[in-house]
Amino acid sequence: MGFSKPKSAHDTFIMTDLTQPFKRLPVAVIGTGSYVPERRLTNADLEKMVDTSDEWIITRTGIQERRIAAPDERTSDMATKAARRALESAGVSAEELDLIIVATITPDTFTPSTACYVQNNIGAKNAAAFDISAACSGFLFALKTAVQYVGCGQAGHALIIASEKLSTVVNWEDRSTCVLFGDGAGAAVLRSGGRPGDGAVLASDIGSDGTLHDLLQIPGGGSACPTTVENVHERLATLAMRGNETFKHAVSHMRDSANSLIERAGIDPGDIKLVIPHQANLRIINAVAQRLRIPSDRVFVNLYKYGNTSAAAVAIAFDEARREGRFGKGDIVLLVTFGAGLTWSSAAIRW
Ligand code: ACO
Repeated sequence: MGFSKPKSAHDTFIMTDLTQPFKRLPVAVIGTGSYVPERRLTNADLEKMVDTSDEWIITRTGIQERRIAAPDERTSDMATKAARRALESAGVSAEELDLIIVATITPDTFTPSTACYVQNNIGAKNAAAFDISAACSGFLFALKTAVQYVGCGQAGHALIIASEKLSTVVNWEDRSTCVLFGDGAGAAVLRSGGRPGDGAVLASDIGSDGTLHDLLQIPGGGSACPTTVENVHERLATLAMRGNETFKHAVSHMRDSANSLIERAGIDPGDIKLVIPHQANLRIINAVAQRLRIPSDRVFVNLYKYGNTSAAAVAIAFDEARREGRFGKGDIVLLVTFGAGLTWSSAAIRW
């Protein structure tokens, strides 16, 4: 059994024949890529914008600077650059893609999806394309979704991307949030099987708790509270967060998700070469690592240069860690995230 190849651009791969038995195929990550915009916004720059200090930001978060996209640079533009790098590293052409999933909370437009813009940009004419929204957990939600398609033979090659232009939804007058976020994109290509040196997806976990939807949200701009001439000055279409409470949930959910995944996949924590956590706050990362009993030299951190790029954070970190040689053949990598929703996710990959 295999996936059905499209016969035309309008006849895409999703042609399930439920009368045919199928066996689950192993799924591998065969390439990664990332992109961050050129412009750096440093803590010193922020000192001139709001009542804050480099010392406060570094002590409370670990962030030194973040990247800000150009005014005419869209989420799909960053996604496209990360995607092209991932395709190049995988040795896969855009036409070979059957599926494109973009995880984002800052889409170019409500509709069409950002994934469709990326599809057009890269010429992936045989792919089905759609977005998912799971905030900072989005990349691993996309991974889990793509694994189902590829693992069931419904897609031969899948491209997952996380891209965020958070600078457009940050309230630049709110010091409690504007120091935290940045822009960027990361991507990965998946396919069934895999060659030596590819990353076999051993297990993945996703979860949500909608009862805590109001801890971190963009309250305005959607159908619940459309932007009007009257409310535009209230900046409702910007990120609002109860940071302290979010912090506690971030630590416990990332710990629990990682622990349950480790147990389910039968992984010895001592065999984990590198943990790649969501890059929101160095104190959260350290607390999670401590609870997982993983020493800090086996935890990947790049948030000091990018801040929190939501869904893109773990995707960029995954690509950078791979390119820096932080893991190699046979090594197990554990990715773990947490975000608005609340949502959380983790994935174990043996390279
Ligand atoms: N500069 C100076 N002072 C500040 C700043 C700032 N930028 N921001 C807040 N403060 C002040 C507050 O006003 C407060 O002052 P007060 O004591 O006089 O009232 C004091 O600093 C402490 O504020 P806290 O909010 O308690 O600071 P905390 O140590 O909790 O750090 C932070 C805040 C960094 C936001 C932290 O709570 C955090 O990282 N939370 C989790 C973020 C997260 O994981 N989000 C999920 C993913 S994001 C997504 O899904 C899009």
